[in-house]
Amino acid sequence: MEPRIASIMLWTFLLVSMATSLVIASDSGDEGCVNKSAPGGLFWSSAKEEGDQELVDAASLNSHNNDEIDGGFSSLDGMLQWAIGHSDPAKLKETAQDLKQLSLDELKRRQIEIKEITDSLKMPSDAQLMKTAINDLNNSSTPLEDRLRALEELLILVEPLDNANDMNKLGGLTVVIHELDSPDPEIRKTSAWILGKASQNNPFVQEQVLELGALAKLMKMVKSTFPEEATKALYAVSALIRNSKAGQELFYAEDGDLMLLDLLSNSSIDIRLRRKSVFLVGDLANCQLEPTSKADSPLFGNHLILKSVVNQLDSSDLDLQEKALVAIKSLLQLRTVEARVKEFCGLERALERMKQKWQEGYTDQRDYVMEMESLRRDVELLFHGKLEEV
Ligand SMILES: *[C@@H]1O[C@H](CO)[C@@H](O)[C@H](O)[C@H]1NC(C)=O
Ligand SMILES: *[C@@H]1O[C@H](CO)[C@@H](O)[C@H](O)[C@H]1NC(C)=O
Ligand SMILES: *[C@@H]1O[C@H](CO)[C@@H](O)[C@H](O)[C@H]1NC(C)=O
Ligand SMILES: *[C@@H]1O[C@H](CO)[C@@H](O)[C@H](O)[C@H]1NC(C)=O
Repeated sequence: MEPRIASIMLWTFLLVSMATSLVIASDSGDEGCVNKSAPGGLFWSSAKEEGDQELVDAASLNSHNNDEIDGGFSSLDGMLQWAIGHSDPAKLKETAQDLKQLSLDELKRRQIEIKEITDSLKMPSDAQLMKTAINDLNNSSTPLEDRLRALEELLILVEPLDNANDMNKLGGLTVVIHELDSPDPEIRKTSAWILGKASQNNPFVQEQVLELGALAKLMKMVKSTFPEEATKALYAVSALIRNSKAGQELFYAEDGDLMLLDLLSNSSIDIRLRRKSVFLVGDLANCQLEPTSKADSPLFGNHLILKSVVNQLDSSDLDLQEKALVAIKSLLQLRTVEARVKEFCGLERALERMKQKWQEGYTDQRDYVMEMESLRRDVELLFHGKLEEV
């Protein structure tokens, strides 16, 4: 078995053991349930020993306990992500149940065993795991299958903020961006996904990825004929430009408005892509509403875009309808749009049709439709208000 996978499986077991032991320990009273000076007290006694609070701290898997833990294991949190990502929930539950049956003596013995195993294995830190994956990607002789695995590992590893922030320093962003040119769609998809995940709500990584020139590549990938690839690429594009002035400027320079128009006006486009596109339009409109934003973006001067968003109201997909309503609500408040509110002429009728449709159908989604109706009313009122202003 792959050593990395083997250690992940071990960690899964260790984490379950720890959690279960701690539950048992705290069940059985305040004192002496775990001998804190025993050699097996690795996870329980690593912090300064001052009673049960330490037990709780250790149990919460806080990553600031890092330094005390042997083997350079820098982020339990990251490891937990791994463990969860690579384990069978039914088995985990079973293990936890088995452990509950253990007596305290047995648990102590188990602790000692665990300590011995971790000592002998020298568990890698997240940074080490990332380096290994990055090395594999940077090696032109690494076969496709191993590349994909390295990317899947990175996808999990970049989830914690600290790891995402380390990616560039380790050369990770460059190698992942390089994989966007892979002939294999699965590899391209996973690479886009990693970039999106690492940049989401993270201005630091956002800027690094933009500087490395990934946005244009990702925007081309949005046109992929593989819906999975296109969807993840659009996810990454949104993550890169969200709340980023530099990102949005680049996006428009690369004709992002036309990209969105293509996606919104083609009825054979995958529904997930359309949902994401409408959401992005709304998000960009929201950015424009910020008092700090300057020039109006080309997106909102284009009445075809407005029209295509309104058209989404006729979709049979409630999620898409909702995203379109939210986007229209933001759009209606833009200065550029206000001035041309009459061109929103399809809106009135589309809102009416929507109401009709909801009254007749969607019986199994009543609650959702009720909430949507209040959103629909908001949009209608807002629209009428704007019409009167003109
Ligand atoms: C705890 O373990 C240490 C070292 O193994 C031992 O000397 C001590 O007697 C134990 N204390 C209790 C309360 O079991
Ligand atoms: C690249 O990969 C090949 C095949 O897996 C391996 O033999 C070689 O040592 C690797 N090179 C580096 C620099 O890691
Ligand atoms: C990738 O490999 C080259 C040598 O082939 C090396 O110069 C470079 O530093 C490596 N990059 C990373 C991120 O490991
Ligand atoms: C619409 O999307 C489909 C599927 O992605 C694509 O094959 C087709 O070329 C698109 N049509 C236009 C007019 O762009």
